[in-house]
Amino acid sequence: MSKVIVANDHGAVELSASIVDYLKSLGYEVDWLGTKTEDSVDYPDVAKLACKKFLQGGYEFGVLCCGTGIGISISANKIKGIRCALPQNCYAARMTKEHNHANFIAFGGRIDYPEDPLKMLKAYIDQEPSTEPRHLNRITKMMALEND
Ligand code: RB5
Repeated sequence: MSKVIVANDHGAVELSASIVDYLKSLGYEVDWLGTKTEDSVDYPDVAKLACKKFLQGGYEFGVLCCGTGIGISISANKIKGIRCALPQNCYAARMTKEHNHANFIAFGGRIDYPEDPLKMLKAYIDQEPSTEPRHLNRITKMMALEND
């Protein structure tokens, strides 16, 4: 069974719970590291906890949620080895797996998405990462920015 991480701040408790349930219904083993109450927590702390655990290995991908998805995705992308996408729709969710090999996907619990975030998540899951050299080259360049 594939393992995934889900983590969130207080701005996305309900969305994260639905994501956890959905991932379980797809057969994933889910480590839910997020807060389950509306009490305020800091999204950089949540991102750090989830990303460090992910980098220990054994996870297929991670999902991060905050009010907008913005703060937690920016925070995650500060951590070496993380490529966290914040897709606008199913197309972007699919493309970020194919072209960017995103290992985390983020959503906003207070965002009115044009498409169901669960459908966006499924689009990301179902997409194979591209092995085309031009994409691999760009990802290598992207990750090299961590050392500039
Ligand atoms: C918390 O109020 C909120 O700032 C956070 O969830 C997120 O939207 C930040 O980007």
